[in-house]
Amino acid sequence: GVYSFEDSPYIMEILTGLRDKNTDSIAFRKGLVKLGRYMGYELTKTMDVEKVRVETPFEETEGIIVKDRRNVVIITVLRAAIPLMEGLIKVFEHARVGIVSAARGKAPKFEVEMNYVKIPQIRPEDIVIVADPMIATGSTLLTVLREVKKYGTPKRLIVLGVLAAPEGIEKIKREFPEVEIFVAKVDRELNDKGYILPGLGDAGDRAFG
Ligand code: PRP
Repeated sequence: GVYSFEDSPYIMEILTGLRDKNTDSIAFRKGLVKLGRYMGYELTKTMDVEKVRVETPFEETEGIIVKDRRNVVIITVLRAAIPLMEGLIKVFEHARVGIVSAARGKAPKFEVEMNYVKIPQIRPEDIVIVADPMIATGSTLLTVLREVKKYGTPKRLIVLGVLAAPEGIEKIKREFPEVEIFVAKVDRELNDKGYILPGLGDAGDRAFG
């Protein structure tokens, strides 16, 4: 399924700041870190928990731990996902992290060049979160997901982004129907250069100059 956070006012306010062309790279990076943190927090609501006993200074009572939080693997797609990962790690502090470089070529082919891949072994109990702020044509993610699959089959395979275009979502769903896509918002369309509209521009350039 595709899940967006349009009903979360704070996430929408952060997105509004990222969209604003007058937001500089310092504020832009901070916005991505915040989105990682709050979207990660939202994700925990979909995770498996376990009942535990806990002793307060006075007596024993019931508590919980979010079991899945211990089994998170974050795959960071360079460059723009770096600040997003930083935010995610605040919620998933146990996470093992994979790094993938994937640069998208120009229209009309949008060929993806992947020349650095470091991904940890994926176990059946793992929750894999592929972080990439922009899902435009979806070519980058398809290339990354095909690669991730070589390292094992996780309990859940999640894509976490900021904005997605309907075209990109379709492409991913067709090849990977099991993938869960979480984005702040699904935007209207792609332009002929492969940018999301209304969008927020080129996330990598805006974050890193
Ligand atoms: C951007 C973005 C995604 C990709 C999305 O990265 O961060 O990774 O494009 O486009 P797609 O869905 O059409 O494949 P880019 O290749 O510009 O690299 P950068 O993050 O280093 O700027």
